[in-house]
Amino acid sequence: MMRGRARIVPTPRDGGGSASRFFYCAKASSGEREAGLLGHLPCVRCGSKSATQHIVKRLPAKNGSGEPCQSAPGDTGKMGKFTETTGIFRLAQAGKGGVPTVEAIRQAWAAFKRRGYKGQPPEWSIVRCLRNDHPTVKPLSLMRWCVRLITPLGGVCLDPFGGSFTTGVAAIEEGFSFVGMERQRHYVTIGRWRLRHAAQKGRSKAR
Ligand SMILES: C[S@@+](CC[C@H](N)C(=O)[O-])C[C@H]1O[C@@H](n2cnc3c(N)ncnc32)[C@H](O)[C@@H]1O
Ligand SMILES: [Zn+2]
Repeated sequence: MMRGRARIVPTPRDGGGSASRFFYCAKASSGEREAGLLGHLPCVRCGSKSATQHIVKRLPAKNGSGEPCQSAPGDTGKMGKFTETTGIFRLAQAGKGGVPTVEAIRQAWAAFKRRGYKGQPPEWSIVRCLRNDHPTVKPLSLMRWCVRLITPLGGVCLDPFGGSFTTGVAAIEEGFSFVGMERQRHYVTIGRWRLRHAAQKGRSKAR
């Protein structure tokens, strides 16, 4: 490796260090990381178990007095969960209590696009719900490849640092048994639903 720039170092086994000896894949998609969670776990942002999207209001980081903003104008305070800069609303709130309708938000974004993304972006956005909030979810195709590489036929795959258990999903999809560990209960819950979903998918494919 060179400082600041990656370089492929030839080794005796790779016959010249071609880039083809690396496994390239896209990062985990939202569909991949969230599979099996909808309807079972609350969105970590809006709290809904059933929503696929929620509304976000961009708040100024500081108000006039220099203090962080705690609430949005028109918010009833019931559903809004605020960080310093963002107000989060369930989609069911659209059109109520100062929250614009979904159509109005879409129109505001379409107008911003027509302006060539110039000027202030709209305050309100519709964004995907998030249930798997593990910070380092691995791509499933990469973990399937790793699992195939090292697990003997009919073997058991063990991941002692499971996170949201992508390795487990990969093991199940590759037809191996899996044992996983994870120290954070929140990620174990996410992992359980992901594994359950992978196992169910496997069973329905086998039928
Ligand atoms: C890099 S992440 C794994 C991510 C996982 N491959 C995925 O796709 O979601 C490593 C995980 O190991 C867990 N961990 C760290 N030390 C641990 C320990 N001593 N016992 C169990 N889990 C541990 C962390 O909580 C973290 O979630
Ligand atoms: Zn949500």
